[in-house]
Amino acid sequence: MKLNIAVLPGDGIGPEVTLQAIKALNAVGEAFNHQFTFEEAPVGATAIDSTGDPLPEKTLELCMNSDAVLFGAIGDPKYDNDPSAKVRPEQGLLKLRKSLGLFTNIRPIKAYPTLLDQSPLKKDRIEGTDMTIYRELTGGIYFGEKKLNDKGTTASDLCEYSEFEIERIAHMAFKAAKARKGKLTLVDKANVLETSRLWRKVVTEIGKSYPEVSLDFLFVDNAAMQMILNPSQFDVILTENMFGDIISDEGSVIGGSIGLLASASVGDDNALFEPIHGSFPQGKGLGIANPIASILSAAMLLEHFRLFEEAAIIHKAVEKALEMQVVTPDLKPDSKISTDKVGDFIADFIGHAEEVINYNHENIEYGQSTII
Ligand code: IPM
Ligand code: MN
Repeated sequence: MKLNIAVLPGDGIGPEVTLQAIKALNAVGEAFNHQFTFEEAPVGATAIDSTGDPLPEKTLELCMNSDAVLFGAIGDPKYDNDPSAKVRPEQGLLKLRKSLGLFTNIRPIKAYPTLLDQSPLKKDRIEGTDMTIYRELTGGIYFGEKKLNDKGTTASDLCEYSEFEIERIAHMAFKAAKARKGKLTLVDKANVLETSRLWRKVVTEIGKSYPEVSLDFLFVDNAAMQMILNPSQFDVILTENMFGDIISDEGSVIGGSIGLLASASVGDDNALFEPIHGSFPQGKGLGIANPIASILSAAMLLEHFRLFEEAAIIHKAVEKALEMQVVTPDLKPDSKISTDKVGDFIADFIGHAEEVINYNHENIEYGQSTII
């Protein structure tokens, strides 16, 4: 298969983790005889610095003309601490999602057996967790009208949803639940919000055409609690934009590190793959950023193009890295293994997955070949 992939490394640790995802994809390309080509373009604070625009026209054009987008991270403290900034890096990502029509954001959350002890949550609570959040990504309060009065003393953000916007992601979520454990939970705030009541109505209606899927509802406050108390009860969670943003960060605690969570953002014509973590500016260039979320996002890219065997090898490689503790310090505080070395290990594994290999831990730290 030939795939043209637009690479938007973005800010902070974005470039270093994205590089590891590219290594993994190149290793897959070689092993399975695919042609993946990569073209890079600026986005976020980096793009503001060089062009004044967080999403330059050329970057958007490249994304529109590519088969997929591999995205790094976005954000810079110099904007976070300045509420009066007129342009913000995040606007680049939001405009990109909207312009590419990426209405469904898929965020899998899994408790890896090898990391059960790593999570700040008790092992017996999180064991067996395997859920996927379907977060609506191009509507709701993120994109509704924003107002600030002349005096700058009163502000509002409108949360708006149409039936159509709910229907299209609901179908995606029901199909996913049908292919998984057959359970869909709609997370909303229907006891308070009109938009949530519309979500319930539309989703209930659509549920009738998916009799294999059992549908239930949870208020978001309760869902936030249930996700920590008993996360393995969930299969697919469907929710609107901002609730999805919040509960997916919460869910990352289950896996032991936000550095493990990948995501896919898909629409009718485009798809973008990115780790859910931010730009972690304090970690930039230090080699401590966990590249696994970005590498697993590359696996989601492969799955999107139905390259399941290829994606499975990436998963296997990641599991091997976790099992052998070839991980960055977020997962093992005394680890001396860098971002780059985790990426090398995973790419190496992909390239030699069919062989019986012995790994020499010392060599990994010293940057020599991981395979002996
Ligand atoms: C995410 C991020 C973004 C969001 C920010 C960077 C705009 O937190 O992808 O979850 O809020 O959607
Ligand atoms: Mn977020």
